[in-house]
Amino acid sequence: MKQQIIRSSLIEKDLARLLDEWKYDGLFLLTDENTDKICFPLIEKIPEIQRAKKYCIASGDHHKNIETLSAVWKFLTENGANRKSLLINLGGGMLTDLGGFAAATFKRGIRFINIPTTLLGAVDAAVGGKTGINFRGLKNEIGVFASAIAVLIDADFFKTLDRANLLSGYAEMLKHALLTSDAANPKVRKQGFMSLLQMDMENLNYPKLNDLLFESILVKERIVEEDLAEQGIRKALNLGHTFGHAFESLSHELKKPVLHGYAVAWGIVCELYLSFIKLGFDKDILLKIAYFVKENYGVFTFDCHQYSRLHELMQHDKKNESGNICFTLLKAIGAIEINQTAGLKEIDETLDFYCDFFHI
Ligand code: GLY
Repeated sequence: MKQQIIRSSLIEKDLARLLDEWKYDGLFLLTDENTDKICFPLIEKIPEIQRAKKYCIASGDHHKNIETLSAVWKFLTENGANRKSLLINLGGGMLTDLGGFAAATFKRGIRFINIPTTLLGAVDAAVGGKTGINFRGLKNEIGVFASAIAVLIDADFFKTLDRANLLSGYAEMLKHALLTSDAANPKVRKQGFMSLLQMDMENLNYPKLNDLLFESILVKERIVEEDLAEQGIRKALNLGHTFGHAFESLSHELKKPVLHGYAVAWGIVCELYLSFIKLGFDKDILLKIAYFVKENYGVFTFDCHQYSRLHELMQHDKKNESGNICFTLLKAIGAIEINQTAGLKEIDETLDFYCDFFHI
């Protein structure tokens, strides 16, 4: 069944309507320490929510683990959840990933609704059916593909996000805009990546952000509909993530952690450079994006001694195949080339470009 994506302007009304539509036996709600305080009050007056059983987990990606998962299963069991029960996940990507996995595995699967409360969660984690937890230091190592029956998105939640968390989600929106072209899909791509680059990130226009967000979600939705289990075209969504994950991991090792979307933004710049040298991607577009990233995301610094550590991290990327470091690259905007490989010389040339461009 197709996942419903609902653009909500009054979450209380829209959630109440949705709960009225779906028949269930027992309603359960998952929050975390932050969303319990900030977001739950927006839905707590709904009579069905007042009757629901609520469980609050600790926030932070380091709690996306087997212990928290087990606690959620225990909560469902002890409160009589059955195959017809419904779980609502109210939170960011960590919570919707873990809650989705708990629901997908409890009694071989109960239905769940995601209400993402961060921009990153709305544009990426909550949509598209990837669920899971981290295991033995490896991110999202254990999980299943299982789609929420509905994703309810209310941009009002994002007004409480700080600039860094907004930018983190915005990087995934940039990625989606690069994956579709006017010619390929005029209906999906009404505004395109130039509208994203023109956005004043210091002075956000929220209605405009909301329009761009839904255009962006549509891009992901279309790709996931074609290839839920990431056997082919869904790999397009990995654009920026091979370098991005290596930067993110290095930032944790160096004890100067960066948000996921920041690492993806720098990763996009690197992978567009790789696209330029290998596939002839337009250099002017690459530079436009690189300037936007530099101005808004700043720079992640490392020195050339860390190139070899970045190689190692890329070599451990779970997207690799047959011992090769794999990338999604672009010939042009919307002209996606998955399963591309690059040697260490090309990777180093890309890192040199990054260091020169960002003056590090
Ligand atoms: N975050 C990439 C995907 O959902 O496939």
